[in-house]
Amino acid sequence: MTNTEGKDDKIPTHIAIIMDGNGRWAQEKGLPRTAGHKQGAENVRPILEHAKEKGVKYVTLFAFSSENWNRPKSEVNFLVDLFRRYLNEDIKDLQKQKVNISFVGSRDKFPADIVERMNDLERETASFDDFHVVLALSYGAREDIIAAIKRIALDVREQKYLISSIDEKVVNEALSTRHIPYPDLVIRTSGEQRLSNFLLWEIAYAELYFTPIYWPDFNEQDLDIAIESYGRRERRFGKV
Ligand code: FPP
Repeated sequence: MTNTEGKDDKIPTHIAIIMDGNGRWAQEKGLPRTAGHKQGAENVRPILEHAKEKGVKYVTLFAFSSENWNRPKSEVNFLVDLFRRYLNEDIKDLQKQKVNISFVGSRDKFPADIVERMNDLERETASFDDFHVVLALSYGAREDIIAAIKRIALDVREQKYLISSIDEKVVNEALSTRHIPYPDLVIRTSGEQRLSNFLLWEIAYAELYFTPIYWPDFNEQDLDIAIESYGRRERRFGKV
């Protein structure tokens, strides 16, 4: 979709968040890691509401990476149950508020009931456009890029277009993020300063913001500070 090049707004149109530090948040309190995920899930709603109030239009949340399946089975099961509960219960509030909900990532790894729920939520909220929430579940940017390359290769083989006409737009249309604009701001909590295979193509020109705060403690004021930092930056998109 479109990017936000040339936009001089101080509020990012699209914020992508790597919600990191749930495990450490819990461990430092002497709690099991799963308690951190539970608290992390409870922190999603206030942050989304605040982002919407600030005038942000898209928020993408990295909730589960394709690599996270390799965590201990008990933690993976807990997270899958947490997503199930979130998609069946908590998300109803968003739906009532006419929020557009969509998913990126390989959903076929989830149990059928969760996949069905994802598909239903996308269909039921497809016409809403005021505020978009994108959940990255079982998502990995390299996987997504590989899937896009395969789609493009098939299209070329079927002579839908020539190799010479492959451009940024063609690649965008083949990615699972084709329905959202490029993120303007990426926030990663918990002090880690890396992207961990999140939206690599899409964030080529995004501003990056790292904070030591663990996700369960990241609050509305912290989001304001991240947005203010974004607003002070000069985005040149490679120009002078
Ligand atoms: C990273 O913390 C967090 C995750 C892998 C899971 C993210 C899930 C949530 C925030 C809760 C559910 C979200 C939704 C949308 C229902 P970590 O476990 O890697 O923490 P650590 O780095 O301290 O170990």
